[in-house]
Amino acid sequence: MSETFRVLALGGDHIGPEVVAAGLRVLRHVGQREGIAFEVEEDMLGGASWDAHGTFCTDAVLEKARQADAVLVGAVGGPEWDGIVINGPITETDGLTRLRIEMDVYNALRPARAWPALHHRTPFRPEIVDGADLMVVRENSGGIYYGEPRGRETLPDGEERAFEISEYRTSEIERIARCAFEVAKGRRGRVASLDKSNVMESGKLWRETVTRIHRDEYRDIDLQHVLMDYALFAVACRPRDFDVLLADNLFGDLISDMVGAVAGSLGMLPSATLPCAAAPGSRVRGGVFEPTHGTAPDISGKGIANPMATILTVAMMFDYAFARSDLARDIESAVDVVLNAGVLTPDLGGTATTDAVTDAVIAAL
Ligand code: IPM
Ligand code: MG
Repeated sequence: MSETFRVLALGGDHIGPEVVAAGLRVLRHVGQREGIAFEVEEDMLGGASWDAHGTFCTDAVLEKARQADAVLVGAVGGPEWDGIVINGPITETDGLTRLRIEMDVYNALRPARAWPALHHRTPFRPEIVDGADLMVVRENSGGIYYGEPRGRETLPDGEERAFEISEYRTSEIERIARCAFEVAKGRRGRVASLDKSNVMESGKLWRETVTRIHRDEYRDIDLQHVLMDYALFAVACRPRDFDVLLADNLFGDLISDMVGAVAGSLGMLPSATLPCAAAPGSRVRGGVFEPTHGTAPDISGKGIANPMATILTVAMMFDYAFARSDLARDIESAVDVVLNAGVLTPDLGGTATTDAVTDAVIAAL
């Protein structure tokens, strides 16, 4: 064995640890099969960390994340911790956000594809969705979620006022635009950049900057600009016409859930969040890999959470952290085989448990 990859696994809350356990089983299986050594360390994030340490993300976890080749996160949060009010930046109230900001993972890659076995679970006719294969590139560390000032105040007339600002500087837009163009090179070579440049100043700068990076550095990529509101309609009507969808933090957050409709379930959506531009086959250190879904408190502890998003997230680790795209494709093929065999958790209309689905994926590998 030539190299050991260090993986930090942060299960998080509710179904988070359940799906991370499934993902790690697949990781270890592929590692054994291929003679790749993984050193996995587990720790806490989110509510679990709050209960143990009084903070949603400890400094020790951040230090371990910086030492790791890849960080695998389950999901964080739940009603138990919703009422905790901390005056301060959002990084203090949300452990995942702190991890993302401290790791400077601004490049969130969120793919969604139509799985033939799940067409009937989507709201689309098969001929509309068949073959759809999208990649949302979301700017993940700026924009309205982090703009300062933000806050809340009581006005003289007694009304409450709450506010945040949407802000981007040129360099932030340049670097995420390059991420989208780089990832498009390894796909169908098409980028749709989404903005509200008709009403927002930050949207105007976004469009100008994406246009310039395209003109100066990526003329071979097909770029179109689409207003965000129309983009939601267009992607819903014609998902196959799109390839890479580039968007700021807020719009990328929105559309990355929306494209879950193409995949048939939020339980099918993986993500890779990286500190640089990268294409499949890369060996990026310090990426944060997360299923896009939440903690699903209603089904936690029942052993029926869908592990597919996390298993596909492990596939993205092979693409972007371990430079083994061949193994990423193997994992995706195994997922496809298991879906076609009808081994499905209840969110997909089946009766299989998390373990049974994971066993089936491993058997297919
Ligand atoms: C996501 C989530 C998070 C985000 C929340 C939970 C802070 O919606 O990963 O899409 O907005 O980034
Ligand atoms: Mg979201």
